[in-house]
Amino acid sequence: MSSHHPALVILTGAGISAESGLPTFRGAGGLWEGHRVEDVATPEAFARDPELVLRFYDARRQALARVAPNPAHFALARLEAAWQGPFLLITQNVDDLHERAGSRKLLHMHGELVRVRCVRCGLNERLEGPLAGRACPRCGARPGLRPDVVWFGEIPYSLDEIEAALARCALFVAIGTSGEVYPAAGFVDEARAHGAHTIELNLEPSRISARFAEHRFGPASRIVPAWVEELLARG
Ligand code: APR
Repeated sequence: MSSHHPALVILTGAGISAESGLPTFRGAGGLWEGHRVEDVATPEAFARDPELVLRFYDARRQALARVAPNPAHFALARLEAAWQGPFLLITQNVDDLHERAGSRKLLHMHGELVRVRCVRCGLNERLEGPLAGRACPRCGARPGLRPDVVWFGEIPYSLDEIEAALARCALFVAIGTSGEVYPAAGFVDEARAHGAHTIELNLEPSRISARFAEHRFGPASRIVPAWVEELLARG
């Protein structure tokens, strides 16, 4: 384990996928515009009108086929491959652009659009195609299938592993996230409390900018590759 590559934790949000063509949540033209979060991204919404919720996620699942990773995703995959110390990429995003760019040491704390699960039998797998009006392939329940994404009011995935990584990291970098949603918005505080250096990479200052020791502003497709090249050049 090389000493000059300390434990690194990266957190990404919708901003890293914006230049790939996937809308962010908050901001002009955001995904929530035209939709109230409580109408499409809560367990209550799914119980009240499953077909509406499934049509909303079917559209987002189909959109994945039309987009591709951008230079920021590829830069993080290069960084992971070159990093000699502990490395973890935590994403709030439910798209599969990090995987498609080559990232492997990756946790989807808010789940994944490409996976579905059945509320009746617990089936949990990658499944292509629309979910609206579709019966569970294993138990036949309908409604039954839902996207394997974490809705408001539900518990994010992998919090224990994330907690352990934040407690031992020496460098914490947040990329393209507004800091509007917890627990992800509090990760910088946990990392800093354990002595990590903290960097925010974003298009513009966020609600949590003041909690980072260092900031770089600009589009992710430009500033993330620049930051990665600089970090790797330092050795
Ligand atoms: N490059 C870098 N950052 C960008 C870019 C870009 N091209 N475009 C937008 N951003 C930044 C915005 O400045 C903002 O800070 O990305 C952030 C997007 O914020 P949100 O839309 O709130 O997305 P995110 O922080 O990922 O939301 C967190 O909220 O709705 C829930 O579960 C959903 O995972 C999501 C969570």
